[in-house]
Amino acid sequence: MRSDNSQLTHVGIIMDGNGRWARSRGLPRIDGHKAAEKSIHEAVEYCGEIGVEYLTLFAFSTENWKRPKAEVSFIMFLLSRFIKNNIDNLDNKDVKIRATGRLDDLPAKPRADLDAAITRTESNQGLNLILALSYGGRAEIVDAVKRIADDIKAGSKSMMDISEKSISSRMYLPDVPDPDLIIRTSGEKRFSNFLLWESAYSELYFTNTLWPDFRRKHLQEAFADYGSRRRRFGDIGGN
Ligand code: IPE
Ligand code: IPE
Ligand code: MG
Repeated sequence: MRSDNSQLTHVGIIMDGNGRWARSRGLPRIDGHKAAEKSIHEAVEYCGEIGVEYLTLFAFSTENWKRPKAEVSFIMFLLSRFIKNNIDNLDNKDVKIRATGRLDDLPAKPRADLDAAITRTESNQGLNLILALSYGGRAEIVDAVKRIADDIKAGSKSMMDISEKSISSRMYLPDVPDPDLIIRTSGEKRFSNFLLWESAYSELYFTNTLWPDFRRKHLQEAFADYGSRRRRFGDIGGN
């Protein structure tokens, strides 16, 4: 049974382990990224079915630009391919595609495909599928601080206006509630710069399953585990 304070409105997933999945099969790393598409498809379907409102998928971090050029180019190509292969189905399922991160860093083609998908699904009312691309939690905070500094310099805001609320309102997607649950696959137990500001009170779930092996049943296990938790937000939690 789920307690009242553990609704599942926003789920974040750090989709990790593609390279190791491929290596364990004697395949090049990029085959692991290719295989990730099916896992994304299942996660989006299942979250849509059970009424999760926001699903944020960490697809590419600000640090991932350090990877070999060929791998980065392939991941960018896969972004375009993912959109092409899935846009009709996502639109039919009323999914609203969104993105978070330093999107201006993306190459022109995937950026244009992403923008077109966002525009096409803008008025959809179902699951918000948020792709974190060239996303870094620290970069997001830096960008928010710069915008606040600009306002202060221009005289439209003063130091007195700086608050947790005003900082939250300067994040990339201020209308999106903080994640209730963050899942990381592949056995790593770190954030790697995912949603640092927004995750202050998120529940965390780590699994050894590699992302290309992650299926509906794994998501069900994660949600069941989440459902058994008691969130306190610093309060005494009814005890
Ligand atoms: C996650 O899988 C995908 C991205 C970070 C783009 P990895 O590519 O990090 O896979 P591992 O961690 O090397 O196995
Ligand atoms: C985190 O995975 C980023 C994404 C899943 C997109 P990484 O594979 O980049 O993280 P580290 O390097 O193991 O911390
Ligand atoms: Mg990794």
